[in-house]
Amino acid sequence: MPDLNDATRGRILYGGDYNPEQWPEETWQEDVRLMRQAGVTSVTVGVFSWARLEPAPGAYDFGWLDRLLDLLHAHGIGVVLATPTASPPPWLGHRHPETLPQAENGTTVWYGSRNQFCASSPTYRRHAAAITEQLAARYGAHPALTMWHVNNEYGTHCWCDATAAHFRRWLQDRHGTLEELNSAWGTAFWSQHYAEWDEILPPRQAQYIRNPAQLLDFARFTSDALLECYTAEHAIVARHSPAVPVTTNHMPFWRGQDGWAWAKEQDVVALDIYPDPDAALGAQHGALVQDLARSMAGGPWMLMEQATGAVNWRPVNRPKPAGLNRLWSLQAVARGADAICFFQWRQSRQGAEKFHSAMLPHSGTGNRTFREVTTLGADLDRLGPHVSGTPVTAGTALLHDWDAWWASEQPGRPSELLDYQENVTAWHRALWEANHTTDLAHPAADLTRYRLVVIPSLYLLTDAALDNLAAYVRTGGTLVTGYFTGVADHQDRIRPGGVDARLREVLGLAAVHQWWPLNEGETLRCTGTEDFRGTLWAEELETAGAEVVARYADGELAGHPAVTRHTHGEGTAWYLSTRPEPDALRALLTRAAREAGLRPAAEHLPAGVEAVRRGELLFLLNHGPQQASCELPGHWEDLLTGKPATGSLTLERHGAAVLRPAAP
Ligand code: GLA
Repeated sequence: MPDLNDATRGRILYGGDYNPEQWPEETWQEDVRLMRQAGVTSVTVGVFSWARLEPAPGAYDFGWLDRLLDLLHAHGIGVVLATPTASPPPWLGHRHPETLPQAENGTTVWYGSRNQFCASSPTYRRHAAAITEQLAARYGAHPALTMWHVNNEYGTHCWCDATAAHFRRWLQDRHGTLEELNSAWGTAFWSQHYAEWDEILPPRQAQYIRNPAQLLDFARFTSDALLECYTAEHAIVARHSPAVPVTTNHMPFWRGQDGWAWAKEQDVVALDIYPDPDAALGAQHGALVQDLARSMAGGPWMLMEQATGAVNWRPVNRPKPAGLNRLWSLQAVARGADAICFFQWRQSRQGAEKFHSAMLPHSGTGNRTFREVTTLGADLDRLGPHVSGTPVTAGTALLHDWDAWWASEQPGRPSELLDYQENVTAWHRALWEANHTTDLAHPAADLTRYRLVVIPSLYLLTDAALDNLAAYVRTGGTLVTGYFTGVADHQDRIRPGGVDARLREVLGLAAVHQWWPLNEGETLRCTGTEDFRGTLWAEELETAGAEVVARYADGELAGHPAVTRHTHGEGTAWYLSTRPEPDALRALLTRAAREAGLRPAAEHLPAGVEAVRRGELLFLLNHGPQQASCELPGHWEDLLTGKPATGSLTLERHGAAVLRPAAP
């Protein structure tokens, strides 16, 4: 199977989405000249071009794309060619309203924006396959083609009748019989028993809380239905160009697609990232989603889209301050990206995104944005031969599973303040601040290469995952488990005893008797060998062999264990029944990492300096508000400047160094 290396060929791809159909052809000449000037090596073309390519059903217009690809090729710019199926033309919705998605309450989602397709609609699929076939046949052997990009940010949901029929087929595959389905969904509750398949619907708008197992299966189904659309187009383009890698771009930490399942079907994992430049922890959000992309890919990945400055979809859209675009791009390289691209090359004059930043802004080339884009192009050109294809090695895995996410965020639960993504972010932050490079992993994945495995909270754990975790600890691993974990099985049935018995044995706990969610802003003092304040959640635990690291000192649970630690087989298992405040969580995870024999990527760095190792290189990234002075052990060369770096290294605000070991 082709992979990202087939497109990068030892470089870092640099460029962005290019939408030349928004401009007269004279502009294209200027575009390619400026692309060369900026060091652009790759552009993504055609993402939203369906109406231009097929202005009427079956009537194709490829002349402009022929000229464009030839022009780009003549200037040495590679093309990531997109299938345009994310934005069907108005004629499709007009002639075939059944291709338009329906919301939970039955209203139609019309054309006039983008993404208005129902993944289960046979008519949509037929038309999407036809335009894909045309493109693939025409350009599959074009010398400019380096990669296929299928659709764009798959994320639609639909509750229409075609979806209902498709959902039933999916349920038949999963559950086999109606009896099994009724059992899996617990339909004895509230008189929900299904007597015929045709009675089953997607979970449409209803009077009160809907069946959680039905909601869970619908989330799984929707991810699978979209994935079928992806794999159908992937198969078409791969048939015409078997040596060209195929990808689609994921939204960062996106709830709607099971990333582990999707990554298996993609030759290249591609990610769009838009951290808020104004957010104190924007850099950590970037690191988290980059770690997820690398983990999904199992190696180098592609940063398909980011913004050079402001986006246009936040309530207030602020530009990136000087240097931040370069810093965050280098962060992605540090964390495994072999392609750094933007949305988009030339800023649009019209349409919904005319205020979204681009590589080439409305004001042209005489501005900081374009200068920074050009500098970054030169940086990446220099770094390419040293990093492209090299791995990032993490000693820690943070376990993440879309099934658990879907199951844990349904109505009718103990606390609506539990936010899966926010909790993952908090735990990742603790490791990120301590410069422990962390992969994300599925709970049933092979964990043996990690010294430390952490679970922020996985409400749902399958039998396979629980057996995997038990074996991991038994054979010497260190596991740190957060609250509300191992509670439900694969169908969202509560495990006997409330928390799975295998997990309790690993943790040295007899029982979790009660969950005690905390109110907004409420904290509980915890004391012991670690003193801290717990937030969000607490539990009434009964230990069975675990050492108590900290007890609740306040409130109804005063005197009860809050944090425990247990030796199981050759390993150690911690349990955190509350979420310590950020500094304390970092201290706890740092202690567990140290006891597990892990060292951070670099030590004694000023706060705000991120350190990541990629291959033999050490990336230092200054996210702090001012200059930072770093003491370096040994001798290095900074690949960005070509200068030796020994002893003390000063990083400007938003400054970065990419250090290679050097002879003294
Ligand atoms: C996403 C889309 C792009 C564009 C950007 C704007 O990443 O894929 O087409 O809309 O958002 O931030």
